[in-house]
Amino acid sequence: MEDAGVDGRQTGVIADGETVVDPPRDFCERAVANDEGVYDAFESEGPAAWERAAALLDWETEYDQVLDDGDPPFYEWFTGGELNAAANCVDRHLEDRRNQLAIRWFGKRGERRSYTYLDLHREVNAFAAGLRDLGVEEDDVVTLYLPMIPELPIAMLACARIGAPHNVVFAGLSAEALATRIDAADSSYLITCDGYYRREDAFNQKSKADNARLRADADLDAAVVVDRLGDALAVSLGSDEHAYGDLVDAHDGETVEPVARDATDLLFVMYTSGTTGRPKGVEHATGGYLSHVAWTTRNVLDVRPDDTYWCAADIGWITGHSYGVYGPLALGTTTVLYEGSPDYPDRERVWDLIERNAVTVFYTSPTAIRSFMKWGAEYPDAHDLSSIRLLGTVGESITPKAWRWYREHVGGGEAPVVDTWWQTETGAIALATLPGITPMKPGKVGPSLPGIDARVVDEDGEPVDPGEPGYLTIDSPWPGMLRGLREGDERYRREYWIEGEDGWRYRTGDGAAVDEDGYVTILGRVDDVINVRARRFNTAELEAAIVDTDGVTEAAVVGDGDGRIVAYVTTRSDVDPDDRLRDAIADGLADSIGDVARPDRIVFTPDLPKTRSGKIMRRLLEDIARGEEFGDVSALRNPEVVGEIESAVREDA
Ligand code: WT7
Repeated sequence: MEDAGVDGRQTGVIADGETVVDPPRDFCERAVANDEGVYDAFESEGPAAWERAAALLDWETEYDQVLDDGDPPFYEWFTGGELNAAANCVDRHLEDRRNQLAIRWFGKRGERRSYTYLDLHREVNAFAAGLRDLGVEEDDVVTLYLPMIPELPIAMLACARIGAPHNVVFAGLSAEALATRIDAADSSYLITCDGYYRREDAFNQKSKADNARLRADADLDAAVVVDRLGDALAVSLGSDEHAYGDLVDAHDGETVEPVARDATDLLFVMYTSGTTGRPKGVEHATGGYLSHVAWTTRNVLDVRPDDTYWCAADIGWITGHSYGVYGPLALGTTTVLYEGSPDYPDRERVWDLIERNAVTVFYTSPTAIRSFMKWGAEYPDAHDLSSIRLLGTVGESITPKAWRWYREHVGGGEAPVVDTWWQTETGAIALATLPGITPMKPGKVGPSLPGIDARVVDEDGEPVDPGEPGYLTIDSPWPGMLRGLREGDERYRREYWIEGEDGWRYRTGDGAAVDEDGYVTILGRVDDVINVRARRFNTAELEAAIVDTDGVTEAAVVGDGDGRIVAYVTTRSDVDPDDRLRDAIADGLADSIGDVARPDRIVFTPDLPKTRSGKIMRRLLEDIARGEEFGDVSALRNPEVVGEIESAVREDA
């Protein structure tokens, strides 16, 4: 590698033309993690090394074992230990930082609300008392169906305080999707709101929730409704429904003793797409999850108490759970919460928020970065973003070009950009560079974090040669790992674990390649799951919803590699594939899953490419959607359709 450049950045090119960017020197000096020895320490200490992470938390009872691996793949972390997540995220900061901002919230209509740790403590306690009053007991699952408003993290923490696992459902999901998740989680309590704003329009969230209650098999014991709209939409409350404001007022000033939870007790469940059409309820345990999240927030995102940190992900997904709520609050920092979209009321919005809050660490997805690039550098360039010290990205692969744009225009050309790989199931970051230690390679995720045993292997579990494609696996347990699935042990084992000669191997579902230096490139999913807009969808689930549309015979859904959903659809011979049908298909998806699943393109085709055994060749469709060269089609039963599909795609573009 070359030496430091004129601007102090160390940039070099190694043999194969790849760029390697060393951590900036100034950054290293002040970085939380700047001792290279951490890799060796984890290597030599084994699971015990993770005690460093547990030490970031306050424990009610010390654990007596770091890892119990006696019954694989049912691993338990920090067994014997007891702690409360809400006490770790709120109470323990009261002594030193009670007047520090915990949450700084910006609403869609320009509203602002700030909560100090003392404010947060008061409201979490009042709401926890309110939930108790409604009958919520330890281990009752509470479903939260709220947009990005402060009541969402408050409700999560109130649940955690009383030991009631939360089950957050993204506010944009449909009534049907909510009903499925209420039933699957076996949840008897729901917290929602009257509605919320999207751009100019007010959406009636309550009516979606009502619909879900009608569809769900289970009867709820009680529901709580947050007034988000003010007077704009009056909703009437049923006899088992309570206004959030009244409940909190009635219990204002009360304190609820945080329930000491076993480290292995459930903190929350989060539904995600799996390899079958039905979503999976991923369960996270209290001690391991919180330790891993706190450790990575500190060591990977370099966050400390005096930071103003903004993770732009919605709390309805795992990124918002781990790095919007639990990580920053466990560390006692200030977390920015933004309800709106990045371009409303205009494209200055994100940069204005960074500037006016002097955000120091910003974490977002490649999808968002692509939009920023498209809108133009003049928007970030017009703002003072000099407060930024570190940038993070997650959810999809980032191209070297987008990486550089992000660093140049948001990071002032100086800030490290950390590409973090992880999943709902891993709970916290598993692959990434340590920004004060490890050199960065734009476009590649870093190596495994210390203590994470990720590998790229072939069908037999043998490591593949550098540069060769293989399956990304994790070969030893890690603290943030899911403790199981709501659907039971058998499904958990089947979905994720392979028993090999030398132990159990976790299957991530991602294809990947690794280079000589151990840097991983993610090649996409190897199962029937697609990642678009930094979200995970199951293709079978989307296809089933499309085929439900009258007139449709078959469908195949792929991602185009640019964050868009493309649906290939065949119709009955007597049906006209017109715009009405397009709308019906899109509406069907919105109904069964939510607006987030509306396809960006629907391509009508006379047939889908199939192998002789009748399997749809999704790879090929993906290549066509991406406008890429595709290989040999001779294995197809119907190679002639490929030309037709290609021209349909081109016509439609
Ligand atoms: C899948 C997990 C937890 C983060 C948000 C998504 C893809 C995640 C990266 C990355 C390339 C990535 C993988 C993974 N993914 N991070 N840095 N580079 N791909 O969580 O919905 O559980 O999806 O997102 O395919 O398996 P999720």
